[in-house]
Amino acid sequence: MIRMFHTSYIEISKSALHANLKFIRKLAGDEVRYCSVIKGNAYGHGIEHFVPLAEECGVRMFAVHSADEALRAHMVSVSGSHIMIMGMIDDAELEWAVQNEVSFYVFEFERLRAAVAAARKQDQKAKIHLELETGMNRIGFDWHDREELAEYVLQNRDYLHIMGISTHYAGAESVANYLRIQNQIASYSRYQWYLRKKGIRADMRHTACSAPLISYPQTRMDMIRIGIAQYGYWPSKETQMQYLTRNGGRKMTDIPLRQIISWKTRIMSIKKVDTGDFIGYGTVYQATDTTMAATVPIGYSHGFSRNLSNLGKVLVHGRRVPVVGMVNMNMLIVDVTHCPGVKRGDEVVLIGSQKKNRITVSSFSDMTNNVNYETLVRLPREIPRFIVA
Ligand SMILES: Cc1ncc(COP(=O)(O)O)c(C=O)c1O
Repeated sequence: MIRMFHTSYIEISKSALHANLKFIRKLAGDEVRYCSVIKGNAYGHGIEHFVPLAEECGVRMFAVHSADEALRAHMVSVSGSHIMIMGMIDDAELEWAVQNEVSFYVFEFERLRAAVAAARKQDQKAKIHLELETGMNRIGFDWHDREELAEYVLQNRDYLHIMGISTHYAGAESVANYLRIQNQIASYSRYQWYLRKKGIRADMRHTACSAPLISYPQTRMDMIRIGIAQYGYWPSKETQMQYLTRNGGRKMTDIPLRQIISWKTRIMSIKKVDTGDFIGYGTVYQATDTTMAATVPIGYSHGFSRNLSNLGKVLVHGRRVPVVGMVNMNMLIVDVTHCPGVKRGDEVVLIGSQKKNRITVSSFSDMTNNVNYETLVRLPREIPRFIVA
């Protein structure tokens, strides 16, 4: 049964999340703090559903991109978890952050000064993470800023609580970036030691997201910031191979990460199409046989990429059936000729399992240029989400 007025729904598996967190924590070790990355609407899973669920599994710290996401996480947190903003926060939002003990990245002097001003106004320390530029060239204090940075932080230490010193790696999931990552690790170390010698110590040094956690263990430090892996995906096939071959090699069946999301809908209508007729817009697909064509009420407006026209697969009756013709804005058509007894209302799995078959988010990435991350975050917020065991 599709619940609520919507054409599809998403299920989030608590047991899969629990298993993923257990695996990641074991890999990182007990000493390393865990920060769950929930930007991009919790990678499409839904902040409002994911935060309380992760809290049930013991998570007490979340990282978001911006103040609006921080506010959403703050509103639904039931365990008083700490929230950290890694990206955008307006000067006007800083006071809210300081007041609510939401920490935020500081990566330029303008923001540093604004943080001190907000802290002064609130008469409360701003909790900050100093983001260091180590070679990604996105955000972060440059090495040549070091003296001015140290001086300013020391002068204003009454208004600043340095929770973290962080950086982000420029593509640790690809071995092509190996040298660049090694250089970043060295740059971070040099900068962090410089600040330490000046008397600036943070509660936590944190640099690793999912790929470095697995491929560069020295990056784990005091805290890991994990996104894609907690949702059940390897950052790349290379990262998965590195995990399998490390420490003398693991069994190829050792696949500890489980995708926690499933996306389901139902067949809207079925019709018989004669040999030689075209299906859908234009002449993109021509029936080479008598074809049972089932319309599914999902299209590119729901996050099912138009690039999957004539390419995508969904599950019906436990079989992988092909998308035929163009993916429309709100509908797509699949060939169910080989699903005997198929009828209107039958379940269609867009992501997830049905009987013995499975459609993974990674399979979307194999067929299009979209990476896992992109496919997930494109899932609209309006699709109802349900937690399942
Ligand atoms: C600064 C920062 N930390 C952590 C993450 C989490 O990365 P991942 O999903 O690869 O674990 C991201 C995501 O891009 C990020 O930008």
